[in-house]
Amino acid sequence: MTDQPKLRSRAWFDNPDNIDMTALYLERYLNFGLSLEELRSGKPIIGIAQTGSDLSPCNRHHLVLAERVRAGIIEAGGIPLEFPVHPIQETGKRPTAGLDRNLAYLGLVETLYGYPLDGVVLTIGCDKTTPACLMAAATVNIPAIALSVGPMLNGWHKGERTGSGTIVWKARQLLAAGEIDDNEFIRLVASSAPSTGYCNTMGTATTMNSLAEALGMSLPGQAAIPAPYRDRQEAAWRTGKRIVEMVAEDLKPSDIMTREAFLNAIVVNSAIGGSTNAPIHLQAIARHLGVETSWADWQEHGHPVPLLVNLQPAGEYLGEDYYRAGGVPAVVNQLLQQGLIHEGALTANGRTIGENCRGAAIEDEKVIRPFASPLKEEAGFIVLSGNLFDAAIMKTSVISPEFRDRYLSNPDDPDAFEGPAVVFDGPEDYHHRIDDPAVGITPETLLFMRGAGPVGYPGAAEVVNMRPPAYLITEGVHALPCIGDGRQSGTSGSPSILNASPEAAAMGGLALLQTGDRVRIDLKRGTADVLIPDAELAERRAALKADGGYRYPASQTPWQEIQRAVVGQMNTGAILEGAEKYQRIAQT
Ligand code: FES
Ligand code: MG
Repeated sequence: MTDQPKLRSRAWFDNPDNIDMTALYLERYLNFGLSLEELRSGKPIIGIAQTGSDLSPCNRHHLVLAERVRAGIIEAGGIPLEFPVHPIQETGKRPTAGLDRNLAYLGLVETLYGYPLDGVVLTIGCDKTTPACLMAAATVNIPAIALSVGPMLNGWHKGERTGSGTIVWKARQLLAAGEIDDNEFIRLVASSAPSTGYCNTMGTATTMNSLAEALGMSLPGQAAIPAPYRDRQEAAWRTGKRIVEMVAEDLKPSDIMTREAFLNAIVVNSAIGGSTNAPIHLQAIARHLGVETSWADWQEHGHPVPLLVNLQPAGEYLGEDYYRAGGVPAVVNQLLQQGLIHEGALTANGRTIGENCRGAAIEDEKVIRPFASPLKEEAGFIVLSGNLFDAAIMKTSVISPEFRDRYLSNPDDPDAFEGPAVVFDGPEDYHHRIDDPAVGITPETLLFMRGAGPVGYPGAAEVVNMRPPAYLITEGVHALPCIGDGRQSGTSGSPSILNASPEAAAMGGLALLQTGDRVRIDLKRGTADVLIPDAELAERRAALKADGGYRYPASQTPWQEIQRAVVGQMNTGAILEGAEKYQRIAQT
């Protein structure tokens, strides 16, 4: 143990130069029940960043798992100290959980930096908890390992799998078409949530937990284990043991989350059919580390990759099936064999991703397809740009045959479509007017949602996946093209064009769009343009500016106002812009 790094907790508990403060620090942590012998033993102090609480049901099982994490930490010779992270519940937070990602990040940075912690176990799960924890670990850069809470068990209704979120979009259509009543609507939706854990579909939670593993920030194979399984308890114990070793090895987030690791995560995201929120969150984590990535990497490295994982919303199955079929290692092994993974990227267990995953078998080829017979070729996102925005993301793996027939079937131009715009200003406007025949929505209409970005609807609302009006659904039109500056749930099967940056509230091109304008989308060229001369757009811009700019609702809380003043756009991670310069601060 000669080249053991000096533990940063010694500055609190064993500092001969400042015996006054040392005594003060010691007496209060003694008060917690630790002995002087333990605190001065030179054992590493390991934080357990607890994201679970009664307000965060998706992550609540971490309260149970933390006991096994503690046991693992103690077993390996560390001292566990558990502390709360600002709660983030994707479905419960008004107006958006997006607001809380950066708030939880800020709080966790202060905790990791300001307290006597040598390493930390990040308890990840529900959508934003994963990026918030990884962003903070990136900024502070003490040894850190992520533990997923795991997905819920599969949901079932009348013999069919019902998946989180995905069933909601389906049930909404049935309700709008009058095929089910309110009670059946609630029962159908609730059937998708049979146990503790996060969303069992390939939504943002399964995506981000898979990508945390692909980045190398968790033990291999643990992301997919369902929350109630006994294997999950064991993974918690192993994670606790491992973080103590990581502290001894001084293995830090900056050693693991390199550019190669991010490229691996981008490739894995395409193969799993991951959420459109992933490009925002990975960009945020990378920026807090100072790693160069951009959405151009998603087009270049992500788009050509085929879809291998058959999970809802792009496919049929759910979280338990994903785990039994081999989880992330089985997917990575398929990609490794094609040379699509940077094999030498280091991971939390001290080995490379190649060493961890090479040879990991697919146990069920219905759920994880071999590379040679994918569900879809070129299944990664398309990154679009044009006079409506600089960058937006489209998830092409969820384009349905119906959608393809209606919009992409012109033999002369099979990758492009155009139509008249109907523009909604925020989700409330959409909910009020969508079923009003006077709005004039037809099967040719392109639906636009604006005022839903990080500034306009603070944190950015998941609202771009809009259903058609009820009168069209009853005629068999189940989806219209949706475009907007908000986000959409990773559980949605809508092939929307979303995360448009800059947003209308930042005076992006969407702010100038008017209902009735014709818009053209070209998927092959990656363009989205309103078919209006530049001069007229310039006139509209000048008029809007003179009128005070694009209007959005006032802030309701201090944090909304603070975040709005400093948040960046989604294509650069929607981070707090002033925060980027604070990198690797535990070493400063
Ligand atoms: Fe929390 Fe889906 S709402 S994981
Ligand atoms: Mg979500």
